[in-house]
Amino acid sequence: MCLSGSDAIFIDISRAGYDEKSIIFKNFNLTVKIGEYLGLYGSNGTGKTTLLRAIAGIFPPVFYGDIKVKGRVGYVFQNPDNQIIGATVEEDIRFGLENLALNCETVEKRLQETLTTFGLQEFRAKDTLTLSGGQKQRLAIAAIMSLNPEILLFDEPFSMLDRMERRSMMNLVKSLRAKQITVVLASTNMKDLVFCDRIITLDGGRSHDQVQ
Ligand SMILES: Nc1ncnc2c1ncn2[C@@H]1O[C@H](COP(=O)(O)OP(=O)(O)O)[C@@H](O)[C@H]1O
Ligand SMILES: [Mg+2]
Repeated sequence: MCLSGSDAIFIDISRAGYDEKSIIFKNFNLTVKIGEYLGLYGSNGTGKTTLLRAIAGIFPPVFYGDIKVKGRVGYVFQNPDNQIIGATVEEDIRFGLENLALNCETVEKRLQETLTTFGLQEFRAKDTLTLSGGQKQRLAIAAIMSLNPEILLFDEPFSMLDRMERRSMMNLVKSLRAKQITVVLASTNMKDLVFCDRIITLDGGRSHDQVQ
């Protein structure tokens, strides 16, 4: 088995975890279609981050299996402090764009679009260290989405947002459907996953498909 034409992610894990005594994934199989929205649901410690990291190519110390991914991956980390590297909001978004080796005009255009789309214009020159948790989370999502990834991995991306921010961010993620972007979103909150096509519940290795 491997990636078929319409698959974006193929996962076939026979065993994975941080040590042999505490295996988190055992005989875990999953394929995600191009353009599909998959929710990873589970309480803390059920392996959501471990799985997202493995999809992004960062494997836990014990890993027997195979993961194949088709397309450019963007990963929004659970903790935005681990993601934000720019001194200001603008610099942070610019950093990723400049690493794509785009020409100056395209960088400026995408930077402007991103600041506007994510309501970050007014924070443009703000020191990233002084942002609130919600603002940091919004910036982390904006910076990754500005790179136009084909597969987006979100690790509890709305946890620090208030209700209004959460709603507007979810709408932005929903709008990616038109672009055929594949989304895998992990959360401990089922409300974050209502727009997913499918939700997998992680339970220390055993998973149950829930087709919505
Ligand atoms: N770097 C690590 N070293 C050892 N154990 C870890 C490490 N990261 C996570 N774990 C353990 O692996 C399990 C799954 O963790 P994690 O993938 O972070 O779950 P979730 O994201 O669902 O909260 C937990 O029991 C956690 O304690
Ligand atoms: Mg986690």
